[in-house]
This record gives sequence, structure tokens and C-alpha cells, in this order.
Amino acid sequence: MEVLVQEHSFLVGEIQRLKAERNAVILAHSYQRPEVQEVADFVGDSLGLSREAAKTKAEVIVFAGVHFMAETAAILNPEKTVLLPDLAAGCSLADSITPEDVRRWKEENPDGIVVAYVNTSAEVKALADICVTSANAVEVVASLPEGRPIFFLPDMFLGAHVERVTGRKMALWPGECHVHAGIRAEHIEALVKDRPAAEFLIHPECGCGSSCLYLKPDAKMLSTEGMVRYAAKSGAPEFVIATEVGILHRLRKLVPGKEFIPVKPDAVCEYMKTITLEKVYESLRDLKHVVRVPEEVAEKARRALSAMLQVG
Ligand code: 13P
Ligand code: SF4
Repeated sequence: MEVLVQEHSFLVGEIQRLKAERNAVILAHSYQRPEVQEVADFVGDSLGLSREAAKTKAEVIVFAGVHFMAETAAILNPEKTVLLPDLAAGCSLADSITPEDVRRWKEENPDGIVVAYVNTSAEVKALADICVTSANAVEVVASLPEGRPIFFLPDMFLGAHVERVTGRKMALWPGECHVHAGIRAEHIEALVKDRPAAEFLIHPECGCGSSCLYLKPDAKMLSTEGMVRYAAKSGAPEFVIATEVGILHRLRKLVPGKEFIPVKPDAVCEYMKTITLEKVYESLRDLKHVVRVPEEVAEKARRALSAMLQVG
């Protein structure tokens, strides 16, 4: 135990030292391990991280998140060094669609608009007209011109949520995140009975979206950061949380005195958890693993990301 505490303090100390030496910033997603969130300069959702990546003055960005997030930072900062501490940090949702799938739809719908969730590869973003995150998807789709076909990819549950709220009919790619798709109606149903006083905060990637709104009509569909903001201002004493469990650390830290109950305690993204404190340290020490996007792809993907950042 003593040895572990010493190792932890050594790593934290070295990370701080190397960060200053390399003029680096650590950006972490809310699904990261608590100890990784604690050494980060900024913790947030995909939208907050994209905004932060777009405005940072640091020369090196260590991305404690998954590959598509580091790619997004590299697209927005072609002149900076973007590091991903472990290249195995992928995403089942981003892997569900290929550039060829998007090209095919575009050929069949030459006047169509392609809306890509940020959980996609740089090549897929390069084929999109505009990107979205779970925090702004409704706003972005509502801002699109009427009368043209829209292809929303790759998350079908987020797409269905956007259709429900905006009333816009879209072609949805049948992709899903294995962690969120695994959160189902039966998990919600049990807690609706056990926790009648709780508010239900549901990530729109969850497979239970529509049945949840049926079982709990006042449930809120929110991005991870939206959950933190909502819990802080709500008067409710307890919240049932339907998303990856890494967000619980942030909720409990930023909203003390309230109770947060995970709807599925084993909703864990193994890709997010590949990043450890030790790997963050090694990443800064050895400047690895550099994530680069070829400029011909980055330039097109940047247009779709900038279009999103202008809307919301
Ligand atoms: P947000 O950070 O946009 O809520 O996204 C969830 C997610 O699955 C990221 O991988
Ligand atoms: Fe991808 Fe799902 Fe993991 Fe997010 S939680 S990184 S969408 S696999």
C-alpha cells in the first residue's frame, strides 16, 4: 500500500514537472480513470474538449481519451504535437462506419447533408458537411436547411433522439456504442421502482432512450457535461445516471452532498480505461504516441468541425 502511494506521488510529480518542461496541457474526457482526471488541466465532454483543443496555447496536447478525440485535437491544431498515451484507445462506435459507407450515401443523395457525430475517424469527418457532439446535435440539426436529405451517422440512438426533438426525418446509420447500447429498459425499470425521488439523467447514446422516456417521461437526455450542469442546479437529492460510470467521479466531486446511482455499474468503456497515470507519464516523457492527420484529410475535416463550433 505504502509503495503504491509512493508510486502515485512520483507519477503525479513527474507529470507536473514534464508538463511545465514541455509546455504541455492534459485534456481528459469524463470517462477517464479518476486519477487521470485529477492530473488533467481540463476535464469535459467531447464538445468541451474540442473547444479547449481549438483554443489552447500549449505546444503539446496529451489527450487522455480515445483516438478520435486526439485526432480531432490534431485536426484543429496542425502545428502542435498531439499525444495519445495508448494507441489501443479506440471506439466501437467510430469503428462502425467506413469512409466508403459515407461515399455510397453521398453518391445516391448528391444534394444530401452529412452530419457526423465526432465519434468518427478523420476520414469520415472529411466527408461530412458538419459535425455534432451529444451536447449540440439537436441544435446543429435544427439549424440545417429544410428540404434536403440528411444522413446522420454513426449512432442510431443519438440520431433517433435528435429526430424526436427536432421533428426532422433523417437517414440513420445503424451504429452503436457497445457500452451505451448495453444500457437497456430493464436497467431503468428496476430503478424507477426503487428510487421514486430520483431524477433520471440519460446519455442519448443509450439503447434505452425511447423506452426510458416511456417509463420515466421526465427523464433528461444529456451529454456528460450536461449531466454535471443539470445536477448542480437541480433541487433533487438523488440522480440515476445512465452512461459510462467514469462520469460518477466528476459528478460526486463537483456536486457534493447529492447521491448519484449508476443505472448499470458495469457500464465501463475499456477503451477509455486503457489510459493510466503511468501511460500519461510515459507519454509526456517519451513524447508518444504522436497522432497526425494528413493535411488533405485534416483540411476537409476541419471545415466540418469548424461549422459545428460556430453553431454551438
Ligand atoms: P460526450 O462526451 O459527448 O457526452 O460523449 C460520450 C462519449 O461516448 C464519448 O466517447
Ligand atoms: Fe466509444 Fe462508447 Fe467508449 Fe465512448 S463509451 S469511447 S462511444 S466505445
